[in-house]
Amino acid sequence: MSWDTVRLEFREDVATLTIDRSDALNALNVETLEAMAEAIEQAKTDGARTLVLTGAGETAFIAGADIAYMQELSVSGAREWGELGHSVANALESFPAPTIAAINGYAFGGGCEMALACDLRVASESAVIGNPEIDLGIIPGWGATQRLPRLVGDEAARRMIYLGERLDAESAAEAGLVGEVVPDEDLESTVSELADRLAAKPEAAIQTAKRAIDQRYESQQAAALNYEKHAFAGLFDTDDQREGMAAFLEDREPEFN
Ligand code: CAA
Repeated sequence: MSWDTVRLEFREDVATLTIDRSDALNALNVETLEAMAEAIEQAKTDGARTLVLTGAGETAFIAGADIAYMQELSVSGAREWGELGHSVANALESFPAPTIAAINGYAFGGGCEMALACDLRVASESAVIGNPEIDLGIIPGWGATQRLPRLVGDEAARRMIYLGERLDAESAAEAGLVGEVVPDEDLESTVSELADRLAAKPEAAIQTAKRAIDQRYESQQAAALNYEKHAFAGLFDTDDQREGMAAFLEDREPEFN
């Protein structure tokens, strides 16, 4: 099945969801997020036993939320935007079967957050990963304040978010942000093999294992994500947000307060 910017393909029991907005390095706009939500639901209905998320092309997994769209958002618009991103990340996280992010290039901001919502992450050697929202005058708004510290620990997550650090694939693996780094040309075959191994496991047992592991975070995460949504949206009323996004779109360094 395909939408304008999203494709869903099945190979036996393995579904692959590909984001394809090459003119914006697969950055996520409203249309793409809505298509992702539909594709995830479709993969569930069709009984996928592993779901792979990746980006089209050789440069980007997902370069983030669409900055051109975000630039003019009001606080209430940013809250709805935060809600939409959260709903897609939550749909990935609560997908019944295991999910894998095949990180084939830039995974920034909302792109990193979609990868964080997957169960496992495999990166190509040339991937670069991070949450650089601070340099746009905002904070991560689709779950990284909660899901990133879980993987990399509190200190490393604070450094990444406060400093907007962009990690190369090897550093991301050392930090615990990805489970495996492979040569670019081996990413697809490595992920396929991993997806097949997961799909061949007893279905009820692996899905129960996933739900059981997720219990660790479930109760406090919903409240924390709600806090993040309001905190993210609140920054859309600041000079720094307007300056940060304008500077990116005008290809210049921002001048913050
Ligand atoms: N949103 C919208 N457009 C984007 C984009 C984004 N996140 N990232 C890249 N693009 C667009 C660029 O504007 C450019 O478009 P034009 O050709 O029309 O000018 C095109 O994609 C190619 O990008 P660059 O020319 O910048 O390519 P590059 O190779 O020089 O740099 C990059 C690549 C390092 C990924 C750089 O594009 C970049 O830093 N992108 C932004 C990354 C970022 O800050 N992401 C976080 C977004 S905020 C967020 O996601 C909030 C949240 O938590 C919900």
